[in-house]
Amino acid sequence: MPCRSRSCSVSLQRYLVLSTAIFAAAAADAVAASVGDLVRDARCFAKCYRQIAAEQPKCYSGCLNERWINKPGECPVGDLDSVASLDRPCLEQCNSDDFCQAEYKCCRHSCGITCQQPVGLAEHRPGLPDVPNVVAVSDYGKALVVEWSAPFPGTSAGHVTYVVQERHHVGAAYVPERMTTWAMVTRTDRTREQFRQLHAPGRWFQFRVAAINENGTSGYSPPSDQFFVEIGPHVDPPGPPQDLMVSSLKWTNKDYQQCVLSWKPPAESVLPVRKYKVFISVRDGPHVYHKRNVVPAVS
Ligand SMILES: *[C@@H]1O[C@H](CO)[C@@H](O)[C@H](O)[C@H]1NC(C)=O
Repeated sequence: MPCRSRSCSVSLQRYLVLSTAIFAAAAADAVAASVGDLVRDARCFAKCYRQIAAEQPKCYSGCLNERWINKPGECPVGDLDSVASLDRPCLEQCNSDDFCQAEYKCCRHSCGITCQQPVGLAEHRPGLPDVPNVVAVSDYGKALVVEWSAPFPGTSAGHVTYVVQERHHVGAAYVPERMTTWAMVTRTDRTREQFRQLHAPGRWFQFRVAAINENGTSGYSPPSDQFFVEIGPHVDPPGPPQDLMVSSLKWTNKDYQQCVLSWKPPAESVLPVRKYKVFISVRDGPHVYHKRNVVPAVS
């Protein structure tokens, strides 16, 4: 739009530049997304492990389809327990344990029936594997290696398999409140795994592991000590933002024109992008004005 009058230059100075960045989560954030119900899968895997190969698929799909109504542990009782009331909405959310994700049980409380984390699993229960302990997290250069304790020799819980969860945050100092929520990483029969996808510099990680057999799980290990993935001497700055687009100007009222400037995050960035600098040049007759904005990255 050509701009000749004085009023136009005033309004130009007051452009609203709306910036939108569609933030593609950094590698570590993307892989950690929870997929399906790994605890239920793991239980069925353990249950069918000793079947002959030809029977395994049938056993496994049968197990996944059957209702899992008596999950180990007890419901937290009364309103005096440690469950925050916000986590116990007045809802009818489930009618048996089978409706609840992972190890969660369907529990009645003063004003509803909802899925709750079971209690009373800490002590050893016959028929369930003991809670493991994460014994080491190490940086192998291209991967993080996590190790946890095997069942005590001589305890019999049938075939035991493990699910591993992680949580993390970016930053120089560890701040527990900034940790993501726990997310599934893998299921494995081993007691040591390496995770290349989690080798993300500048992040604090914690891991926890649950041992699962055909009857379910006694719950997750205590979180491992927080582990920092070193940034190393050279970190490349992020590449340029991509797909920069500007919509045409629209008058929002008689003083303002508005356009939308949008872009996508750089393809490569070792550390998450925190802010973008936006340079704007405005031509008004013979004059060119430069402006600069710093906008926070949407994450
Ligand atoms: C699962 O629980 C049942 C009933 O408590 C028990 O008989 C069985 O031995 C348990 N399975 C394993 C592998 O311990």
